[in-house]
Amino acid sequence: MSVKVADGIYWVGAIDWNIRDFHGYITHRGTTYNAYLVVDEKIALVDTVKHGFADEMLARVKEIVDPGRIDFVISNHVEPDHSGSLNEAMAAAGNAELIASEKGKEGLSRYYGGKWRFRTVKTGDELSLGRKKLMFIMTPMLHWPDSMMTYVKADRVLLSNDAFGQHIASSQRFDSELPAAVLEDAATDYYANILMPLGQLVAKKLEEVAKLNIGIDTIAPSHGIIWKTPGTIIGYYSRWAGAGTKKKVVIVYDTMWQSTDMMAKSIAKGAIETGVEVKLMHLRSNPWSDAVKEILDASAVIVGSPTLNNTMYPTVGGFLTYVMGLKPKGKMWGIFGSYGWGGGAVKAIKDELEKENHRVVETLDVRFRPDGNEIGRCIEMGRRIASQVG
Ligand code: FEO
Repeated sequence: MSVKVADGIYWVGAIDWNIRDFHGYITHRGTTYNAYLVVDEKIALVDTVKHGFADEMLARVKEIVDPGRIDFVISNHVEPDHSGSLNEAMAAAGNAELIASEKGKEGLSRYYGGKWRFRTVKTGDELSLGRKKLMFIMTPMLHWPDSMMTYVKADRVLLSNDAFGQHIASSQRFDSELPAAVLEDAATDYYANILMPLGQLVAKKLEEVAKLNIGIDTIAPSHGIIWKTPGTIIGYYSRWAGAGTKKKVVIVYDTMWQSTDMMAKSIAKGAIETGVEVKLMHLRSNPWSDAVKEILDASAVIVGSPTLNNTMYPTVGGFLTYVMGLKPKGKMWGIFGSYGWGGGAVKAIKDELEKENHRVVETLDVRFRPDGNEIGRCIEMGRRIASQVG
């Protein structure tokens, strides 16, 4: 069923109940691909849905209008979770113009061929549908160079695409219908795994939007729940963009024959004794994306690995590649590990972190099994690092 967002604005997206792996990011709650229909004398479809969901979207459009009456299809973002049904949408719309940023046109032409009638737009450009006027706001690098938002002026609705989204598959469409804690958790997860490297840009863009002096009553993103109280999500974004951390230590590790596991738990024991929040995450029991969600507001991250073939364990290597790409800021790092004969994991992790200018405050290497003395050193390491966070 389509859902009314405001007068003449409808959610016509699709619900992906079963997706659990969103290009490597584990989506425990599934997701939605939100498309919106704006109806006035002229009609615009804003964004489409992932490939395979076109029928679901078009059935929702048909509840409101004949898709052949769509005058404009607006692509806020090229990524295929939003453009994957453009072929079907443009075919159903018949003679619609396709509106995108200049970079959007470039990307869409590469993905689908330049076969459509394009109009490119930039910040401040308007498109009149009759009484309703749409205004476009370019948001390059939030999170691709082509990204933009569409603002429906009369109704003060911001169709924000990926920004302010969350991966939640739900029969509910609005923030008031879900527990606040669930929404905050899902929005945190999404921000950490998609927008963390862009924190400064997010802050700048929020300032820019504020300067446009546009009132925003509703933020309707392209994933998850629609914010009828936009102050909530804007508040979260301001906090995260400021890279605020709390007294929290995250220990991320893998283990081969339980020695590194013994070390991890001993480090956690020492850190817990200081009273700070501690998360212990074994990398084959927790998705990388869950660990990154925990790292977002942590002051310290302690990474552990056994040595395999004179370097770090492959799971730890993969995780470090992922997390370094997200460019976490303002954290202190610790490293620990165990080895049998040659060693190498702790040094390899240290090299990786220092290459990215991260502050490594402590390392600890143990041969074979940690003995009583070494367990004590692990506890001390946890205590020392935890006592520096804040
Ligand atoms: Fe939801 Fe960048 O795509």
